[in-house]
Amino acid sequence: MKKRTLLSVTFVAAAVLSLASLGAAAQDNKFKIGLIIPLTGPQSTTGIQIEAAARLYMAQHGDTVAGKKIELIVRDDAATPDVTKRIAQELVVKDKINVMAGFGVTPAALAAAPIATQSKTPLVVMAAATSSITQASPYIIRTSFTIPQAAVSMADWAPKNGIKKVVTLVSDYGPGFDAEKFFKDRLAFNGGEVVESMRVPLRNPDFAPFLQKVRETKPDALFVFVPSGAGAAVMKQFLERGLDKAGIKLIGTGDLTDDDQLNGMGDGALGVVTAHHYSAYHQSPTNKKFVTAFEKANKGMRPNFMAMGGYDGMRVIYEALRASKGQGGGDALLDAMKGQIFESPRGPMFIDAQTRDVVHNMYLRKVERKDGQLHNVEFDVIKDMKDPGKTK
Ligand code: PHB
Repeated sequence: MKKRTLLSVTFVAAAVLSLASLGAAAQDNKFKIGLIIPLTGPQSTTGIQIEAAARLYMAQHGDTVAGKKIELIVRDDAATPDVTKRIAQELVVKDKINVMAGFGVTPAALAAAPIATQSKTPLVVMAAATSSITQASPYIIRTSFTIPQAAVSMADWAPKNGIKKVVTLVSDYGPGFDAEKFFKDRLAFNGGEVVESMRVPLRNPDFAPFLQKVRETKPDALFVFVPSGAGAAVMKQFLERGLDKAGIKLIGTGDLTDDDQLNGMGDGALGVVTAHHYSAYHQSPTNKKFVTAFEKANKGMRPNFMAMGGYDGMRVIYEALRASKGQGGGDALLDAMKGQIFESPRGPMFIDAQTRDVVHNMYLRKVERKDGQLHNVEFDVIKDMKDPGKTK
């Protein structure tokens, strides 16, 4: 009797084992990308842009790489870090994803970072932009941009163009702190001065009292960072309060004049100067091809910098899979992401192997009307800029 029990236990164990290896075999022909993005809530446009770009990349490049069938698993975290964390855990444990990507805001990327480290799963940041994110896990790669890249570029341009006395207005969280600090320090270095630094809540911000204060302070310019999706509200209230008429210039990181919203901002946005890594109006054949294909596949949408982070992120994943031949797990995949260099629709792009962060051009742009649309028209460039926030 005892012997029989033992035998059947062995049999069951063997069956379970072979089932598991069968599962693994099926798994072997698949390559799963867990895309965690905000598709609801105030950051939803970020997720919508990223998903559209990721699907476009797949439509253009096929869904089989190195003999593996690529599966895109899209999950909405509403940019809420607790939800991001739960989804990341589920995707790693249950879905056995090979790579996670997306991350619409800094707190979401930081929430998923420990899961990437523990499970040795590469994490591609396609949107969030606080400098320190890449230091939260050795498995993080970034294809979006860093806020210090944009803030420093703006602070170099401003004093050369008559802007010495500036008030800063930023969203009260990671990227806002980066924008405030890097703009202020660099402006001071260049002989200008930030006379007042203001922070507005990320959720449901009311800009009115802050803008009233700016009017009274009467600086040469107001420098703004708000996340993608919030720029139109700032622009509207800036104009309604007549700050432009009072001779105060509006400048900022390019998140302010987001291509997703810019057309709706109206002529009041004309002349606003920002610094950023991507404009839908970037004049290169690679970008023209990208914008045309994106707009064809997504009626009524124009790609913004979030779409760009998603599109290039997919490129980095595809090419890493091709180079590692789908062998060697997360570590091999990560290694093949490091050091990638290519021509992106944004311009030349490089993933620094040491910092795992993006190195690319920063452009100074001015809002102009072109072909009946409002565009961020590039007029100057700082080539191959590393993240000024990295000390090593
Ligand atoms: C961020 O949370 O890191 C973030 C979000 C939206 C932006 C820029 C940065 O436009």
